[in-house]
Amino acid sequence: GAAVEADISALKPGEKMTVEWRGKPVWIIRRTKEQLETLKKTDPQVADPKSLRNPGELTPAYARNEYRSIKPEYMVAVGICSHLGCSPIDKLQPGAQPSLPDDWQGGFLCPCHGSTFDLAGRVFKNKPAPDNLEVPPHKYLSDTTLLIG
Ligand code: FES
Repeated sequence: GAAVEADISALKPGEKMTVEWRGKPVWIIRRTKEQLETLKKTDPQVADPKSLRNPGELTPAYARNEYRSIKPEYMVAVGICSHLGCSPIDKLQPGAQPSLPDDWQGGFLCPCHGSTFDLAGRVFKNKPAPDNLEVPPHKYLSDTTLLIG
């Protein structure tokens, strides 16, 4: 399928944008330092912290690191739940919200059956979704242009 270019020059820290690739929503999230810090806290709470499951399909070699990304600041993930394919909703801000744990650090909530994902798209333990969100193949064409696919 055709690769898609994404201009990320207007994306501010803490914001997310979505581009379409092969009919799927691909999220690009510019994570703040504080958001990156939360990944240390969620590390013991997620089912597959090192993205070892189905790495060939879910996490390209260059994203098999603690941030699941090429550059820590930018997360690129397919916004489709690994359970039955719903699209999770942003819950980027920490703090208690209905149906989220009190110590919620920010991430994504699937509205269909309640799977939750952290800010690296890693699924929390004991949720219906079996896997982390997919990191699609991607690379940087410049500091402000990503190529997805
Ligand atoms: Fe996301 Fe079931 S489709 S939890």
